[in-house]
Amino acid sequence: MSSSAEATLSPAKPHLPDAQTVTAVKHWTDRLFSFRVSRPKSLRFRSGEFVMIGLMGDNGKPLLRAYSIASPAWDEELEFYSIKVPDGPLTSKLQHIQVGDEIILRPKPVGTLVHDALLPGKRLWLLSTGTGFAPFASLLREPETYEKYDQVIMMHTCREVAELAYGQALVESLADDPLIGEMVGDKLRYYPTTTREPFHHMGRVTDNLTSGKVFADLDLPKMNPEEDRAMVCGSLAFNVDVKAILEGFGLHEGANSDPKQFVVEKAFVGDGI
Ligand code: FAD
Ligand code: A2P
Repeated sequence: MSSSAEATLSPAKPHLPDAQTVTAVKHWTDRLFSFRVSRPKSLRFRSGEFVMIGLMGDNGKPLLRAYSIASPAWDEELEFYSIKVPDGPLTSKLQHIQVGDEIILRPKPVGTLVHDALLPGKRLWLLSTGTGFAPFASLLREPETYEKYDQVIMMHTCREVAELAYGQALVESLADDPLIGEMVGDKLRYYPTTTREPFHHMGRVTDNLTSGKVFADLDLPKMNPEEDRAMVCGSLAFNVDVKAILEGFGLHEGANSDPKQFVVEKAFVGDGI
């Protein structure tokens, strides 16, 4: 981090109990990046959960935001996939982190996008936009995902092709993964789409579900409450619209304490919400 940035916002001081060290950073577009940090030895989490991470503010207090852990529960490090909000209190600074810097990570994982919150089923649908892919980057690398389901369908929609790159690279890496490569086999059906730039598949997740296009393209039956389970992660508007569609297919929303056919989590808190 440059000295001018340090003047306003410094990485966590090494003596802070919740400081973790950055081990890798990759910028995917001018709005998206991913990074990896050391994992606290005591941290146990379920793939799909989120934690609070951040940097030390110049007022001497931690500036923390919710982040889905994008790495699976078995990984020795933790991975995150982040937006860069130009004037965002945290990400305007976080986007400049480099290997060796430290971030603050509160080791209290929570969240609803976990296997325990769904009843057993045949197919698992992972439905996301933008950075809503992050919890699914964890679940796509989780062995339980393939032990529990015959088929896993990953729908990810962004405005432009470049915004799909993190998800695309992750899906491509699965086949060679020594731990889960064989388990994934041909169970995973990846269905990325764009809405504002030409791509081989286009359209909103919502439109591709209601029109039946995704079922036709993947040669799958229409979603039904007996066989299909879903996890949803996007903007509030996306989540509201997808929830209504899933309910239209007869699925009911579940929670950790009350497992049902689908679960929802916000990828971010939007303006005025
Ligand atoms: P903020 O003041 O927090 O946000 C400013 C504005 O930027 C928001 O009002 C919204 O309009 C927009 N915005 C914020 N986050 C996003 C986003 N991810 N995509 C598009 N627009 C956004 N963010 C991630 O990048 N990766 C994650 O894995 C992630 N997981 C989250 C999990 C949960 C449960 C929640 C509630 C939020 C999550 N977020 C995630 C959002 C994150 O907490 C911050 O909002 C984000 O890092 C921006 O922080 P900021 O301080 O720079 O700006
Ligand atoms: P669109 O381009 O048609 O608005 P954003 O960048 O605004 O967060 O959007 C990310 C992706 O999510 C875009 O492809 C966008 O499509 C899509 N999207 C936005 N709102 C909804 C919604 N309510 N339902 C389904 N898809 C949505």
